[in-house]
Amino acid sequence: MEEINVLINKARLEKRIDEMAREIERDYEGKDIVFLGILKGSVPFMWELAKRLKNNVIFEFIEVSSYKGTESTGKITLHKDIKDSIEGKDVLIIEDIVDTGRTLDFLLEHLKQKNPNSVKIATLLSKPSRRVIELNVDYIGFKVEDKFVVGYGLDYDQKLRNLPYIGYIE
Ligand code: IMP
Ligand code: MG
Repeated sequence: MEEINVLINKARLEKRIDEMAREIERDYEGKDIVFLGILKGSVPFMWELAKRLKNNVIFEFIEVSSYKGTESTGKITLHKDIKDSIEGKDVLIIEDIVDTGRTLDFLLEHLKQKNPNSVKIATLLSKPSRRVIELNVDYIGFKVEDKFVVGYGLDYDQKLRNLPYIGYIE
């Protein structure tokens, strides 16, 4: 196994997620929020964010994939769709990392047909230098350089999701 270097430790992650929660609480005052987690990487971030909010948070999940090993394939496949209606609801997409932007571009288009009242995006990480499709990301935890990052939900061939920090592989 390659050596893993710590990029963002647990304390920094939690402090920043706390700040994001305050911002979201302010923007969604008195509203119920549908957290739409993108499986599987968003799970730890989704919980850390949700537990810091006073709003009613409804959990929904959708599964898409776009990644093989460390190379983006560019093609998005929908594996699991939402079962319940999100019509008229305020949806906050929860993502682990925005890389090329293809996944979110695909999802925004996919969600339109379901007529939600609003759709915003919260991501723990963003790699702006890798963007192929420009999109507006409403809440960003940390901007990172073009390194392959793992942990806190992010995987390397399905492994390392359970690291309690964000690391990178040289
Ligand atoms: P995008 O469609 O290119 O924006 O890719 C988004 C998806 O690629 C994320 O949800 C991740 O699953 C995956 N991804 C992108 N960069 C990394 C990385 O550095 N480590 C692990 N997964 C990544
Ligand atoms: Mg993902």
